[in-house]
Amino acid sequence: MIHEKLPKIWFGGDYNPEQWDEAKMEEDLRMFKLANIDVATVNVFSWARIQPDEDTYRFEWLDKILDRLAEEGIKVCLATSTGAHPAWMAKRYPDIRRVDHNGLKRQFGGRHNSCPHSPTYRMYSERLAAKLAERYKDHPALVAWHIANEYGGYCYCDNCAEAFRDWLKKRYGSLDALNQAWYTAFWGHTFYEWDEIVPPSGMSEEWGGGRSNFQSISLDYRRFQSESLLDCYRLEYEAIKKQSDVPITTNLMGTYPELDYFTWAKHMDVVSWDSYPSLDTPVSVTAMTHDLMRGLKGGQPFMLMEQTPSQQNWQAYNSLKRPGVMRLWSYQAVAHGADTVMFFQLRRSIGACEKYHGAVIEHAGHEHTRVFRECTELGAELVSLQDKLIDSRLNSKAAILFDWDNRWAVELSSGPTVALKYVDQVHTYYKALYDNNIQTDMIGLEEDFDRYELIIAPVLYMIKPGVAEKIDAFVKRGGTFITTFFSGIVNETDIVTVGGYPGKLRPILGIWAEEIDALFPDASNRIVMKKPYGSLSGDYSCNLLCDLIHSEGAEVLAEYGSDFYKGMPVVTRNQYGEGEAWYIASNPEPAFLTGLLAEICREKGIQPLLETPEGVEVTERSKDGKSFTFLLNHNAEEAQVELPATYAGATDLLTGRSMAGTTFIPGRGVFILEK
Ligand code: GLA
Ligand code: ZN
Repeated sequence: MIHEKLPKIWFGGDYNPEQWDEAKMEEDLRMFKLANIDVATVNVFSWARIQPDEDTYRFEWLDKILDRLAEEGIKVCLATSTGAHPAWMAKRYPDIRRVDHNGLKRQFGGRHNSCPHSPTYRMYSERLAAKLAERYKDHPALVAWHIANEYGGYCYCDNCAEAFRDWLKKRYGSLDALNQAWYTAFWGHTFYEWDEIVPPSGMSEEWGGGRSNFQSISLDYRRFQSESLLDCYRLEYEAIKKQSDVPITTNLMGTYPELDYFTWAKHMDVVSWDSYPSLDTPVSVTAMTHDLMRGLKGGQPFMLMEQTPSQQNWQAYNSLKRPGVMRLWSYQAVAHGADTVMFFQLRRSIGACEKYHGAVIEHAGHEHTRVFRECTELGAELVSLQDKLIDSRLNSKAAILFDWDNRWAVELSSGPTVALKYVDQVHTYYKALYDNNIQTDMIGLEEDFDRYELIIAPVLYMIKPGVAEKIDAFVKRGGTFITTFFSGIVNETDIVTVGGYPGKLRPILGIWAEEIDALFPDASNRIVMKKPYGSLSGDYSCNLLCDLIHSEGAEVLAEYGSDFYKGMPVVTRNQYGEGEAWYIASNPEPAFLTGLLAEICREKGIQPLLETPEGVEVTERSKDGKSFTFLLNHNAEEAQVELPATYAGATDLLTGRSMAGTTFIPGRGVFILEK
């Protein structure tokens, strides 16, 4: 629980007063109070200021900042500053500088730039975390620890290569086992000495677009680098934990490709993440990403650590959030389980690359701006919500599996198509549930499947040990399982399970796949329904990949409508134990999946939360016998919702008005109905 010292939805964000003078900070404090800001994330990038050389540590300036914030009643999320190393350290200790994918030794510059196996980085970052903990553990302002910043990026230096070999020794025990697991007989890549193994990079096995000649080594390098950065995080985590009980986090990045966040989350007290949708990001993608962040720790509420109040600087086209959108998207995060609403940044910097990044306090420097007004209004609302929503949970009967190992394997694959993107496929299924207002959890493979009635595993290409058995048990017990083309193909080192795809899933699904056709971008096939199912009848288009499957017991609901495999099954359902398992052999048009999932959910008794018009999102959080229905109107125009009788007497937490029957939500408006 992060809320002991501040039991409300935290409101604030990244604050970098080390970039300006004390007088300006006083002005900031005045404005924070106006805007109801109660948490500042400080010390995110101040390593060089704290530690100007080997032995000197200067904290007095930071003491002042924390003390002034405390005096004004503003709490602090204290970062450790290890997201960017000082220039002197880079000059003196070259081991801290990374080697990039093309083998270039980096010079000093940028951030998130330290080699995870640099002895210098490990020693100094741990020491800094320990010193910060010692100094500030009892500071009255302290409410959370924020380690480094947005961990990411891989290193290919000699220290990493050496550590990779040690990691492999532990994983495989012997070179024989490794050669076997990696299938090194291919292209004569057999290793006889451990030091023949080099990191898979642009200088060795990997080529354009992240593809690899040897998926097994590339996969292991991803696992290894993800763990290596995690080890760095954990060094700091332990250094702090030894001294302080205050919750510790690091800010994640949603569906960021390089780190296995399910593993990371085990070592975080609370998940936090930075949400930066663009003007054209579908709101369902943002919703899905929030759900994924909530799913990392089994549904525990998360922190929205960063979002922009108005615009980013690093996208190609940094549009402003339209009036009302910052508020709407803030509540969207809360609707999906966020217990904080925080920004990057509280005041705009005036130099370097983030000066055109939005901030609560703009370059104008005063409170008479659109952005400041909108922030102030939201801040006041969050005060009025008190602790009502804090730690409430979303209860979902449907879940979508997300797995980083599987994603890596899919995207490293050479063939069958470059167009297959794992996250897009996951979103396709998420969106079909979302459009039906079916609340969904995004879960990892270790989650308890029996919490759910329906589990969808889009492109479950890799079957790691125990996973098929878990799915088997879930379906036998009565669960509904859905998977798609290009599933069940390889094991955890990307070696094919022979005897017919989808390998170990074959008995559960009652089909086998013989071939996989990849379609050109403008090509499609058809899904022809053999008889109506729910609202589905006639035919629908499909594209991307077409598995050529045979039923071996599954009921065939639809067949391909063209090409030489016309008449072969494309959608099947297999009764298995008490449950059923579906195979969707191609990539259907959205209308098909929306209809299919509507009917599957109806049959399973999984109810939509409410009927709403297009663009009106709905979720439900609950606690202590109360439920809170969020209605979010993403349209610029007013929308009409019919509240069923179960909502009689429900009150909108934001206006205090009671709601019933026909209800109008203003454009970009939000209701939180308590009942
Ligand atoms: C990230 C970082 C911040 C800042 C923002 C800008 O989320 O954590 O330091 O650079 O991006 O959008
Ligand atoms: Zn390295």
